[in-house]
Amino acid sequence: MPQPISREALQALLDRLAADAPRCFGEGKVASYIPALAEVEPDRFGIAVCHADGSVQCAGDAMTRFSIQSISKTHALVLAMRELSPEEIWRRVGREPSGQAFNSIVQLEVENGVPRNPFINAGALMVTDMLVSQLFMPQQTIREHVRRLSITPSVDFDETVARSEMEHKAHNAALAYLMQAYGNIRNDVEVVLDAYFHSCSLAMNCVELARSFAFLANHGVNPFDGQAVLSPVQTRQMNALLLTCGLYDAAGDFAWRVGLPGKSGVGGGIVAILPRRMSICVWSPRLDSYGNSIAGRHALEGLVEGLNVTPL
Ligand code: DON
Repeated sequence: MPQPISREALQALLDRLAADAPRCFGEGKVASYIPALAEVEPDRFGIAVCHADGSVQCAGDAMTRFSIQSISKTHALVLAMRELSPEEIWRRVGREPSGQAFNSIVQLEVENGVPRNPFINAGALMVTDMLVSQLFMPQQTIREHVRRLSITPSVDFDETVARSEMEHKAHNAALAYLMQAYGNIRNDVEVVLDAYFHSCSLAMNCVELARSFAFLANHGVNPFDGQAVLSPVQTRQMNALLLTCGLYDAAGDFAWRVGLPGKSGVGGGIVAILPRRMSICVWSPRLDSYGNSIAGRHALEGLVEGLNVTPL
């Protein structure tokens, strides 16, 4: 049985991963289909680990905030799982990997306006529609939820990014209107898009993001206040969904290389969960063709190797 790594050895490992990250800086590009994201400095790298007891270790640019983008789809789904019955959620969105790009529309018509899973854009728009129906102020509730989980009241939307997404909304609007045509999206599409873009625009750093996912490494309990965010069964379900669908059409390759449940965003962040041990957030803005951080994925491979764990 491999022995758990000491805090000192883990710190040395994180420092080494941060020092090695520039080797990946020759590859990939910053997301530019949302113009505000194209402004980000590409050659950055940060990593933070939040242990199941809430303590944090980090290296590199772990305190620099970036656009969390699709990572927020996890927070939105957590809220939906707290607010709605499983029947209501899973009637309107599936739980299967899509094998398609994160913003693909191709399956949506064939499958009667029911998105494959909650992490592709169509699925996240569907979850946002559920929250718009259920909550008085959906985007503010998502922000409150993330502030509480990260114990950081200053976490906020980046209005420039949210506006930039709204100005270039055509693709997401097409997904949402198609789902509305099938009666699956029930609210005003513009209201749903606004709430979705605001959630994606949340700006957080690696430490804050790692903290906000710590409950998934702790049986669903937030280590900072001892409250259950999800039940142990829901936690298992969420981690399963992250493993199979969290990195879109690269989920299989990520599972092969890293072997952890994870969620990426086109801001260059990836969050991963080592169940019962730690949540991890890496950030580096250069993306591969699937929209996932290259240096981030590489560092997670190095971390799992260095930790010498076989979680699956
Ligand atoms: O809707 C979009 O396209 C973005 N707000 C989020 C996409 C995203 O982060 C995909 N992740 N890798």
